[in-house]
Amino acid sequence: MLTCIRLEIIFQIVEDFYGLVNKKQVLICSVICHLVVPICRKGNTTMKRILLDVLICPNCLPEENCLREEATAIEGADILEGRLHCERCATDYPITGGLARILPRTFPETSASKNKYETDPVVSSYLWSHFGDLMAEAHASDAYRRWAELITGRGGLAVDIGSAVGRLTFEMGVNCDFAVGLDTSEAFIRTARDLMIRRRITVALKEEGRITRDAVLELPDRYDSDKVEFILADALALPFRASAVRTSASLNLVDKVPSPYGHLTEIDRVSRTSGAQFILSDPFSWSEEAAAEAEWLGGKTNGPQAGRGLDNIMALFSDPSGGFSPPWRVVSRGEIWWKIRTHANHFELIRSCYCKTER
Ligand SMILES: C[S@@+](CC[C@H](N)C(=O)[O-])C[C@H]1O[C@@H](n2cnc3c(N)ncnc32)[C@H](O)[C@@H]1O
Repeated sequence: MLTCIRLEIIFQIVEDFYGLVNKKQVLICSVICHLVVPICRKGNTTMKRILLDVLICPNCLPEENCLREEATAIEGADILEGRLHCERCATDYPITGGLARILPRTFPETSASKNKYETDPVVSSYLWSHFGDLMAEAHASDAYRRWAELITGRGGLAVDIGSAVGRLTFEMGVNCDFAVGLDTSEAFIRTARDLMIRRRITVALKEEGRITRDAVLELPDRYDSDKVEFILADALALPFRASAVRTSASLNLVDKVPSPYGHLTEIDRVSRTSGAQFILSDPFSWSEEAAAEAEWLGGKTNGPQAGRGLDNIMALFSDPSGGFSPPWRVVSRGEIWWKIRTHANHFELIRSCYCKTER
């Protein structure tokens, strides 16, 4: 999809990924990326090459094995068709129409088709929810602007886990070197990529029954399409190297995955051991439909995770024996009212309780 990345971004990312502190080391490594990697990975775009440096095979976890790109169709600087191949487990991850599907084998094929987020009306509802304020929609929510304001500092790799149609990913791209939105919903990721490429789309918003209204969504200039990418991936088997990520976010997701603790340990694994920030926000609508009760991290009256989800998650993150290493510091907590529109007269108002942690 995208084109060139500026040299200083390559510098910063190489520095971030390899933990290099010395500019000379960074320079040597950057030169290797420029000169050697293009020969090894013929046909890659600069951006994909950088992403490839952090991508690993989700099947092989906890072993971290890199993925080799094999492009079969390139358009401009973009890879349209091809695959990412793991030599260790012989898995191929297809790239179709520019979209990389890096889901582990454990992710059931049926899940995508069962995913309630795959329908046009839901995509349209989420576009309104994420971008309504930019479309000057009446009653739009400012939730994503507020979540974005929690992210501090500049540079590094950012990951928006369960990104849906990508508003937070675009916001992350403003101050981070590169932002990746990932989700298991193909409809959401296709829509986010479409927006990233075309920057202006028309959204059919349901008014009532069969009546719809077209609204134009145009990305503001501050969102740089060159600094974001969207992939199909699973929050429980993130296809990223350990310690690669400076900024991560999980918005309204932890109560939707079959293993909420597994989701948090994956964030812990991919986050830098120092200089990392993580934002978790959720309404904690625990349900057996998403996860067995034994897996819930709150919403129970007894047992190890009795009490409220946010309190338990903050305690887990900051407890030296909570399984996260090194432990995180909670720097803030609060609530953000998040809104989803079904039609002109029907909105869902959700209190999403957040904490921001750093280490
Ligand atoms: C309630 S929506 C929240 C979306 C977005 N974070 C937001 O706050 O607007 C939950 C999202 O998580 C995605 N999702 C569910 N299970 C997932 C998983 N195992 N890995 C990645 N994304 C997942 C869904 O497809 C959906 O986009």
